[in-house]
Amino acid sequence: MMQVVEVARRGGAEDLHLEEQEEAQPGPGQLLIKVKAVSIHAFDSNIQGRVLGYDVAGVVEEVGSGVVDFKVGDEVWSYLGGGKDNHAYAESVCAAAEFVSRKPVNLSFVEAAAVPTLGITAYEAVLHKARLKAGQAALVTGGSGPLGSMIIQLCRHCGANPILATAGSERSYRELTDHLGLSPENVIAYRERSLDDLQQQIQSLTQGHDLAAAFDLVGHRLSQLCFRSIGFGGAVVSVLDQPTDVAEGASNWLFGKSASLHVQFTGARIHFGEPRHWPTYRQVLDQLRVLFEEGHLKAPKVCDLGGFSEASIRGAHELRPHGDALGQLVVRFP
Ligand SMILES: NC(=O)c1ccc[n+]([C@@H]2O[C@H](COP(=O)([O-])OP(=O)(O)OC[C@H]3O[C@@H](n4cnc5c(N)ncnc54)[C@H](OP(=O)(O)O)[C@@H]3O)[C@@H](O)[C@H]2O)c1
Repeated sequence: MMQVVEVARRGGAEDLHLEEQEEAQPGPGQLLIKVKAVSIHAFDSNIQGRVLGYDVAGVVEEVGSGVVDFKVGDEVWSYLGGGKDNHAYAESVCAAAEFVSRKPVNLSFVEAAAVPTLGITAYEAVLHKARLKAGQAALVTGGSGPLGSMIIQLCRHCGANPILATAGSERSYRELTDHLGLSPENVIAYRERSLDDLQQQIQSLTQGHDLAAAFDLVGHRLSQLCFRSIGFGGAVVSVLDQPTDVAEGASNWLFGKSASLHVQFTGARIHFGEPRHWPTYRQVLDQLRVLFEEGHLKAPKVCDLGGFSEASIRGAHELRPHGDALGQLVVRFP
């Protein structure tokens, strides 16, 4: 038997309860992972099922038939998108091997659990969609959050310059400058300022060069800012559900700049694809491992909520909607 935190019905944090459940056995092509740490996202509650949680770091406990790349005892991280028996708010989880990769040796389990969804999303947004090149300018809205921090680091890895980011609070400003190393002049305080004013600041910061990529992580007025500021031939990359709904005139701005809009939805190949679409998840996790181990990336800021329990998982769900540069919420196992 194993302990899981189950959701009795879809509602608030009070609906999460500790339960005992039969431990899953790995089927063909699957691995049983002993969970060491799990990260908590607001969108965990989109999962259909009673045990939530997308991101996990742990140790391989059993290997299903047909899996040749892993052995018992391997330290792994996984994006629990598809091909699993339960999700990560649990002592162990079965995952299809296409979603599992070796954990970077220089990240702790807690740090590693913070990465999979954010890392895959950021990697695809920057390297597959925006395809930034050295010397190109980039803007990241919501850059102080866990996803923004991965995107900023990957932009820097591509040689983007300058990298601009928005900050809505002093805490976000500090995160961007102190933790992520952005120049203070490249941090754009956006609250209570007009879009015209913000657009002008971006133009002057890029010194007349075109903004090659704008990563839209926040929506609302900041979506407008991305569409208005994008340069000729540039790319707006949105991680939002409805990327153009809140951005009045988005298609006109894109047309006028001959720019493109990319939608990044990391779960797309799972929700709308089939197993032949899955290997990309492990491939990207493998690429991320190399970037961490070679020192090109550092772990996003983590908010460690302590040991796995009903209280710690509930606490994470209560904190989650408040964002504001807290860091990626992680719960660990002994
Ligand atoms: N499409 C995908 O596959 C995918 C995958 C992962 C994440 N996402 C989405 O990406 C977004 C960013 O993820 P994250 O984990 O970095 O988010 P987060 O920590 O919740 O928010 C990031 C930043 O957004 C800014 N923000 C502005 N208005 C906000 C509001 N009303 N509520 C919360 N934050 C607000 C805050 O910075 P300032 O105060 O400085 O503005 C905050 O630090 C989220 O919307 C998430 O759902 C999408």
